[in-house]
Amino acid sequence: MTELKTISKIGIDIEKIRADFPILSRKVNGRSLIYFDNGATSQKPQAVIDALNNYYVHDNANIHRGVHTLSQEITVAYENSRAVIQKHLNADHSHEIIFTKGTTDSINLTASSFGKKFISKGDEIIISVMEHHSNILPWQVVCEEKGAILKVIPINDAGELMMDEYKKLLSNKTKIVAVAHISNTLGTINPIKEIIEAAHALNIPVLIDGAQAVPHIKVDMQALDCDFYCFSGHKLFGPTGVGILYGKEKWLNEMPPYQTGGGTIKTVTFEKTEYADLPLKFEAGTPDISGGIGLAAAIDYINKIGLDNIAAYEHKLLLHAAGELEKIEGLKIIGTAKEKASVISFIVDGLHPFDIGTILDQFGIAVRTGHHCTQPLAERYCIKGTVRASFAFYNTKHEIDEFITALKKTITMLK
Ligand code: ALA
Repeated sequence: MTELKTISKIGIDIEKIRADFPILSRKVNGRSLIYFDNGATSQKPQAVIDALNNYYVHDNANIHRGVHTLSQEITVAYENSRAVIQKHLNADHSHEIIFTKGTTDSINLTASSFGKKFISKGDEIIISVMEHHSNILPWQVVCEEKGAILKVIPINDAGELMMDEYKKLLSNKTKIVAVAHISNTLGTINPIKEIIEAAHALNIPVLIDGAQAVPHIKVDMQALDCDFYCFSGHKLFGPTGVGILYGKEKWLNEMPPYQTGGGTIKTVTFEKTEYADLPLKFEAGTPDISGGIGLAAAIDYINKIGLDNIAAYEHKLLLHAAGELEKIEGLKIIGTAKEKASVISFIVDGLHPFDIGTILDQFGIAVRTGHHCTQPLAERYCIKGTVRASFAFYNTKHEIDEFITALKKTITMLK
């Protein structure tokens, strides 16, 4: 009752929302599913499932390639999806929205293409110690290819970027800064506006890995003055296999195509190819058409709830979970930044995260265990991995209470 009252104050009708997600009513190991692995991928509302289904039942055709009705209709629908995403991100132009396979693909595209054009021997690239492997490896490859140097922003014990150290790393050798908006392991919300401003003072562009941010908070490309922003559809309640690279026109125009092939050209002869304008220059081959349409449906869905409502509600879930976890003897939360999203990583003295995760699954509770594709971060904390519970707006305080009870039983069983 208290929960329902609190929730209605912040505009979330939790029962109605949960009914929109068919998977939430399934059982796992005989228990009602409690899905706390939203950082890995989120569940899909019926509106997204319907958009995917409708595409294959009524609309399937290729885009940008046909004069026939189906092709024309789906081209308009796909480009409308791009416009939905542009509006959601408050990007200046729809051609600054590039469809990719996901965050990893978006970062690889940028690192490879930007690297080819703008990075040379002795140049420096700045990332941070909390980056996902997907925002480390593509830059490592560029460094190896070009003889550039990777510089790493350290963090304090709470899991916050050391901004003084960041500012000391910036120099006229820095060619790009690439950092996470929200850490997938710690939940830290990084001060990206300050990061971008400091880099821009030296005319250095900034790429933000927004994979963990877009499901939780509103992002505004023009307000952030961000150069590149990457995210995946599947963490944003949309389909797998589709993602977005937002890039400022001025950079994307200068960058060479990442992959080449059908759809990327104006003219081809055996001697020379003239590439298409944005965004098609970066969209080789037939894309995940249903994915783009499904992603726009997901964005329409969350905008009906409102990201401010979502952020406020999830913050309450975070505070409740953190408060209860802190009471458990021998449990340590990894990542206690002042600004945090609804992601909690923890370790328990003497217990392996995999064992905890495996037993929680017997209670129908899905969490992620391990290094979460952030091995250098695990090394920073001298740990092998954590148990991670990551919440979405369809989770409830009641589910957190069930999780705490199951976790206490798990710890007793394993000790
Ligand atoms: N990057 C995703 C996670 O943190 C898969 O779980």
